[in-house]
Amino acid sequence: MDPLVIFTPSGKRGRFPAGTPVLTAARQLGVDLDSVCGGRGICSKCQITPGSGEFPKHGVTVAAQALSKFNNVEQRYDRVRGLKKGRRLGCQARVQSDVVIDVPPESQVHKQVVRKAAAERDIKMDPATRLFYVEVQEPDMHDPSGDLERLKTALAEQWQIETRSLRADLPVLAKLQPALRKGKWAVTVALHRGHADLHERILDIWPGYLETRLYGLAIDLGSTTIAAHLTDLGNGSVAASAGVMNPQIRFGEDLMSRVSYAMMNPGGDAEMTTAVREALNGLTADIAAEAGIDAAQIVEAVFVCNPVMHHLLLGLDPVELGQAPFALATSDALSLNARQLGLNAMSASARAYVLPCIAGHVGADCAAVALSEEPQKSQDLVLIVDVGTNAEILLGDKTRVLACSSPTGPAFEGAQISAGQRAAPGAIERVEIDPATKEPRFKVIGSDLWSCDPGFAEATAVTGITGICGSGIIEAVAEMRIAGLLDASGRIGSAKDTGTARAVPQGRTHAYILHDGTANGSPRIAVTQGDIRAIQLAKSALYAGARLLMDELGTDHVDRVVLTGAFGANISPKHAMILGMIPDCPLDKVTSAGNAAGTGARIALCSRTARAGIERVVNEIHKVETAIEPRFQEHFIAANAIPHATAPFKELRKVVDLPSPDFSTGAGADSGGRRRRRRG
Ligand code: FES
Repeated sequence: MDPLVIFTPSGKRGRFPAGTPVLTAARQLGVDLDSVCGGRGICSKCQITPGSGEFPKHGVTVAAQALSKFNNVEQRYDRVRGLKKGRRLGCQARVQSDVVIDVPPESQVHKQVVRKAAAERDIKMDPATRLFYVEVQEPDMHDPSGDLERLKTALAEQWQIETRSLRADLPVLAKLQPALRKGKWAVTVALHRGHADLHERILDIWPGYLETRLYGLAIDLGSTTIAAHLTDLGNGSVAASAGVMNPQIRFGEDLMSRVSYAMMNPGGDAEMTTAVREALNGLTADIAAEAGIDAAQIVEAVFVCNPVMHHLLLGLDPVELGQAPFALATSDALSLNARQLGLNAMSASARAYVLPCIAGHVGADCAAVALSEEPQKSQDLVLIVDVGTNAEILLGDKTRVLACSSPTGPAFEGAQISAGQRAAPGAIERVEIDPATKEPRFKVIGSDLWSCDPGFAEATAVTGITGICGSGIIEAVAEMRIAGLLDASGRIGSAKDTGTARAVPQGRTHAYILHDGTANGSPRIAVTQGDIRAIQLAKSALYAGARLLMDELGTDHVDRVVLTGAFGANISPKHAMILGMIPDCPLDKVTSAGNAAGTGARIALCSRTARAGIERVVNEIHKVETAIEPRFQEHFIAANAIPHATAPFKELRKVVDLPSPDFSTGAGADSGGRRRRRRG
C-alpha cells in the first residue's frame, strides 16, 4: 500500500506513491502550503516540519526516515540562508513511508492573523496580490509569439492561472522584455485579482527570483488626521504605522465647513483633493522609509473615510453631501488604479480599494467599523459608537443592523471648550473630584502621576499643563456631576451652593477651577458654564442618534456598547455614562474597540473575502437619517440633562450615587447621597 501522508493542522490525509514531493501531495489534497517559486527550491515558502514516532490520534507510527534525506538544494539553502531545526523544504522532501507533516503558520498562504483587541478575532489572509516565479520559453523564429504571450503560457502551465484575459498595463509591458532577458527567461511577477475582478492583472515584474515582500497601506482618512498602517501582504503583520494631520484643515475644521468651502469657492473641491493627495504621497514615502522598504513594494492601498473625505479623495465635488437628500455620487465600493487617485509615491501599478459608504452621512469608515466589529454576527444587541465630530452609530444583532450618524461637533475633541486642546502631551486627560472636599486631582498626557502625587511638578515640567483634551473634559464634567458641583440641568453651582472656593463667578454663571496655574506659570484651567453647554449639545446628539436607532428596533435597552475611534478608545465608560452620552447598560458591558475603522481597513487589505463580505453586509444595513427625523429633536432635548431627563439609568445608579442639587434658584446643594468611594 502507498504511504499515508497526514497534514496538520488541517488533518487532510491521503496515500501517495513513495517519492512524491510533499508539496505535490499538499497540492493534491488542497492543503494550504505556500510556494512562490513553484517547487524549484528557491523561495523557501514551502517549509514544513515532519513528525516522528507514535501518532495515536492519527493511528500511525512515523519512522525516523519517513521523508527522503536532505538533498543538495536543501543543503545549499541551509548553508546560505539557514533552515530552522527540523524544517524541510516541502518541494524537495519526498515521501518514503507513512508520515505526519505539520505546516507551520508562516508557510500557509491563508494564515490566521490574530488580532489583539477587546473582542479577539482572526483575520484569514486572502490578499488580492501575490508573487509568482515563472520560467518562460525563449522566443523562437519558427514559432513566433510575443514575450507576454509566452509569460501567460508559463503562468497557466506552472501555476494553473487562467490567463486568457490577463492584463498588463503599459508600465509593466515596458519592464517585461528587459526583465525576461536579465533573468535568463525567469521572472517574478506580482499578480493582482480583486474579489470582483474577472481577470488577473500583472502589477509588477522583476528578473529572476525576487526575494521581496509586498506591502499594502490601510488608510483611515479622517477629517482631522490621516492614519496609515503599512501591512505585509504575505502575513498581515504591520511593518510600520504613521499619521499626519489632514492638510484640508486649512480649508475648514469640520466637514461641513469644507463642503461650504467647495460651495463658495469655484475649484475649492479640487484644491482640497490636491492637498489630501499630496499628504498621502508624503505619508507613503515616510512610512516606507520608516519601515526600510522601497515604496515601490507598496502595491495596494485600502481607504476608509467619511462621505465628504471619500468624495474629496476621489476628486468628486462634495456639494451634494451638504444638503438634503445628501446624495453620494456612489455608495459602492471602488477598485481603482492608485494612479487615478494621484497616488504616485507607491508602485506605478498599485491598486486602490475604497470600502463602500453606507449612506450620505454614514461613510466607508463606518463600513470598516462593521467589518471589524461584526454587529451582524452578534448574538446580543450591540451599540457601536464611533465617536468623532460626526458620530457614526451602528445598532443591531444577527437579525438586523441599523446605522445613522449624528452631528456631535468638535467638543469631544477639545474644540469649543475654553481650555480645550487636542490630545497631546500636557493636556489633562483624567480627572477625579473628591465629593467631600470638592478638590480635584488630574493626570496629564505624558505622565502617569496624579497631580497630587509627589514628583508630579517635576514630571510635567517639560510639557507643562496646557489645557484639557476630550477625555479630560468628559471626566471633569461627569466628576462635577457626582461631586454635586453641577445639577442635572448642567448648571454649575456657586461657592455658596457647593461649599468650595473653586466655584468662581463668571459673568452671570459660574466656573470650576480645575487647575490654578498662576503659581507655576501654566494657564489657569477651568470648566466654564459654556464648556458644560458645549458638552451637553455634543452628548445629546450622540444619545439621540443611538435612541433613534433603538426606537427603530422597538427596544429601550441595549445589551452592550462598543466605543471606537481614536477618541472613543480613550473615554472612560463610567464617565461617558454619567454624562449620558450612551444609553444605560451594565458598565462591564461597555468596552473599547480602539480604532476599529483602521482595523477594518487592515482586514480589507488582507482579505478579498472580507471585502466581498462587507459589501454584502453594507447592502443589508438599514440606514436611518437623523436630519429629517422629528423624534431626533425630542430625544435630543430629553438628553440635555445629565445623565438624562427621563431615562432612569438604573444600571448606572447601581454603581454611582448621583446627587440631585438644583442650582436654578441659587438655593444650594442638596446634601444627601453624594458620598461615594474614590476610584482606584
Ligand atoms: Fe519554493 Fe519550495 S516551493 S522553495
